[in-house]
Amino acid sequence: MNATAHDNFAHDLTRLSAPTRTALDRAPAHFIDGKWLPAQATLPVIDPSSGAPIAAIGAGGAEEIDQAVRAARQAFKSPAWAQMGPMSRERLLHRLATLIEDNAATLAELETIDNGMPLWAAQGPVVGGAAQVFHYYAGWPSKLAGRTQSVEGPVPGFTGIVRQEPVGVVGAIIPWNMPLLMAAWKLAPALAAGCTVVLKPAEDTSLTALYLADLIAEAGFPAGTVNVVTGRGAEAGEALVAHPDVAKISFTGSTAIGRRIGASAGRSLKKHSLELGGKSPTLIFDDADLDAAAEGAANGIFFNSGQICVAGSRLYVQDRVHDAVVERLSRHLPTIAVGAGLNPGTFMGPLVNAAQKARVGGYLEGAAAAGFGVMRGCPVPDDSGYFVSPAIVTGADVDAAVTREEIFGPVLCIYRFSDEDEAIALSNATDYGLASAIWSRDIGRVMRVSAALECGKVMVNNSGFPYAGLPEGGVKASGHGRDLGPEGIAQYLKTKCILIAP
Ligand code: NAI
Ligand code: MG
Repeated sequence: MNATAHDNFAHDLTRLSAPTRTALDRAPAHFIDGKWLPAQATLPVIDPSSGAPIAAIGAGGAEEIDQAVRAARQAFKSPAWAQMGPMSRERLLHRLATLIEDNAATLAELETIDNGMPLWAAQGPVVGGAAQVFHYYAGWPSKLAGRTQSVEGPVPGFTGIVRQEPVGVVGAIIPWNMPLLMAAWKLAPALAAGCTVVLKPAEDTSLTALYLADLIAEAGFPAGTVNVVTGRGAEAGEALVAHPDVAKISFTGSTAIGRRIGASAGRSLKKHSLELGGKSPTLIFDDADLDAAAEGAANGIFFNSGQICVAGSRLYVQDRVHDAVVERLSRHLPTIAVGAGLNPGTFMGPLVNAAQKARVGGYLEGAAAAGFGVMRGCPVPDDSGYFVSPAIVTGADVDAAVTREEIFGPVLCIYRFSDEDEAIALSNATDYGLASAIWSRDIGRVMRVSAALECGKVMVNNSGFPYAGLPEGGVKASGHGRDLGPEGIAQYLKTKCILIAP
């Protein structure tokens, strides 16, 4: 590999803006009750493009979580928040969205050096997306309403009132793949509903959540409405899930931890919503626009290095066009520009950490050992960071690990099918049920297949993106509950019926 090619895999951190460097240099602390509480223990912040530590965050545990939940509980009942009018709450949410936009350059740099994603992805889908989610939910407080109805009772004249009330303190636990966006998906609807929140970001990517805490204070949210405690899942995360004063857990992450949270929430009867893993199929029918479909299939898996819950990791192509699609994708694979996130021209950054790199490598070794076809994209250096070359796997068995398990990396497995029924059966032959994509110009087929797919979202002739007004979430082992849209705010409301005698 020549020197310029290798340069593309390194960051020049001296190019970071002054506000980003200031954020990196901050003393590790948790944001509790509107103040920064210095951390007792710390965790390193790693730049995935080099594997080098670039900052430190607090390693919070049960004690910090308890303080944060108490602050959130107090804020939930405080007149400053509980009696704030809907228009005032809307103004705060819009102000926060605008502050995110004003600080977009810094937030995007922080996201890129913390998670590894290319700067364009941090700027658009993550930071821009987060601002949109706050703007969207800012419109809700003044539109939330219950209902009134007449009742047939023992005497005439009874009235029923149905109120929508905020559930209380929300524990939000988010993953590292789209950090600020995931924080927005949880915080915006919870705050619009009138809840207060303790946010536990992923230990690999807490920087933007900490930066956001300052923006929340600057926007004017009362102290304690949002608290951010950083730390490991097994410590801070478990303590949040177990805390008796948390009314609801909103979780996005792995299916394994989702099951644990569901079991714990079952014992305590906490409300909970779980957005978990996926093994989402893309179906290309023989009447599809093949160029667009192949490009869409590639974007569906290689965006964010495949670290996307809805990533289209299984591609099913109809017999007649199978070879043409494989040919297009194999030509595309070596052109995918892998590099450090801050470098212009990078399409795919490194994976988030060493464990994810080892995990992806393990699946590809398994696939090669089983005799499946494994194609790789541009070579990446072994000695720096968590880069992996994108890959295509062909000929994998239906029960192979690469077919059944979520890899969460840039690995596209391609299979063939003969007809609609087989396409549906293969798509649904998975524990998961998050998203699916259909490429076809036959509207009847699109409607039939969309109805038959077991998943929470179907993308037709596109590779998908989240829209603040439309629900995201899954079925089966992909979890339950929905983020975004009206369904997203409903998760933070509880219903009370008031029956009034005449
Ligand atoms: P994870 O599920 O352990 O982490 C997600 C969040 O849960 C983090 O904030 C973490 O600190 C927290 N957490 C971990 N253990 C916890 C516990 N016992 N109680 C409460 N909170 C806890 O995911 P991880 O280990 O980082 O990634 C492993 C795999 O999970 C990935 O390879 C991928 O397959 C899947 N994953 C899926 C995501 C999605 O968006 N669907 C996001 C992240 C990971
Ligand atoms: Mg990091």
